[in-house]
Amino acid sequence: MKTERIIVKGADDQAGIRQAAQLLRAGQVVAIPTETVYGLAASAYDPEAVKAVFVAKGRPQDNPLIVHIADKEQLSAVAAAIPETAKRCADAFWPGPFTMILPRGEKIPASVSAGLDTVAVRLPSHPIARAIIHAGNLPLAAPSANTSGKPSPTSAAHVLEDLDGKISAVVMGDDCEVGVESTVVDLCSDPPRLLRPGAVTVEELRRVLPDLVVDRAVLAEPVKGQKVASPGMKYKHYAPKTETVLVEGDTAAFTAFVNRQIGGVAICFEEDAKGITCPKLCYGTTRDETTLAHEVFSVLRKADELQADVLYVHAPSREGVGLAVYNRLLRAAAFRVMDLKETEKRRKGNVQP
Ligand code: TXA
Ligand code: MG
Repeated sequence: MKTERIIVKGADDQAGIRQAAQLLRAGQVVAIPTETVYGLAASAYDPEAVKAVFVAKGRPQDNPLIVHIADKEQLSAVAAAIPETAKRCADAFWPGPFTMILPRGEKIPASVSAGLDTVAVRLPSHPIARAIIHAGNLPLAAPSANTSGKPSPTSAAHVLEDLDGKISAVVMGDDCEVGVESTVVDLCSDPPRLLRPGAVTVEELRRVLPDLVVDRAVLAEPVKGQKVASPGMKYKHYAPKTETVLVEGDTAAFTAFVNRQIGGVAICFEEDAKGITCPKLCYGTTRDETTLAHEVFSVLRKADELQADVLYVHAPSREGVGLAVYNRLLRAAAFRVMDLKETEKRRKGNVQP
């Protein structure tokens, strides 16, 4: 299949918007930019088109998709009930990088939600994404537009790297502003539950949902055989081909550690860089979690090109958007964490005064 590049200069570029919307109405799969990551969109009402999304990504059948709408009024077309909490969240966080889990409406095929009786819904803020949903007059089921398991795509080039020849078209937009996928909150559970951290932070969520709990899968490895609230959280994910280890510790401990390794590449903060003697790639500074989120997937893709034996990634703080970056890196590393703080403590503990 030839993958068409659709050039869209902005939300008022009617020709490109119309072309993308027509393909989607005809049951085709089209990658579109959103403010978080690129999405692989298909009509949420069309089970065949939805199936094609799973096939193109190589996505496991039990991992449900997010349905994207263009305005709040469309929510009642995709959800069977809209609780008070959903209205509050929509007012606070939409349009934007926020997804809520609600009871699934009857027009949404079971395959969108991998057989669950719930549906994930998001109203993106990206003007081109919204213009395409408007023009097609359809809600769009759209997972991230990467091959399943690989780092999510934050540019049109990343999408083509994974899916050229496998999908009908890519809308060629700018790089994504946020860089990590939306915050996902389950409003069908009581109390509401954070399933995936994103740019809408726990602190912001608790202002609207004071009793919000954080699902254990956000920071812990799933126990084999145990049911998970969000199926997407159980897979090794966002992963470069190269083996990856997440390293906790301060600048001095991290630089000393990576300098002792052979054949590794350090994915580090700017503060670390001058002390590092092995190959390295920086993804921002410790104090700026927003930039780390913006860069994290792109640096993982770049690191793969260096063909190292191991990638050692300096772990960010879990504050604010840092929690989302940490969550993605934990999965990229398949939960392999090296805690230099613990090693340091143990070493000091063993030294007799
Ligand atoms: O920012 C985003 O959310 C991007 C852009 C394209 O909008 N989309 C995205 O989709 O990240 P995806 O498919 O890569 O991730 C969807 C996540 C998965 O972890 C999935 O398990 C979870 O949402 N999810 C979807 N429907 C669900 C449901 N009904 N119940 C629980 N989790 C659900
Ligand atoms: Mg994804």
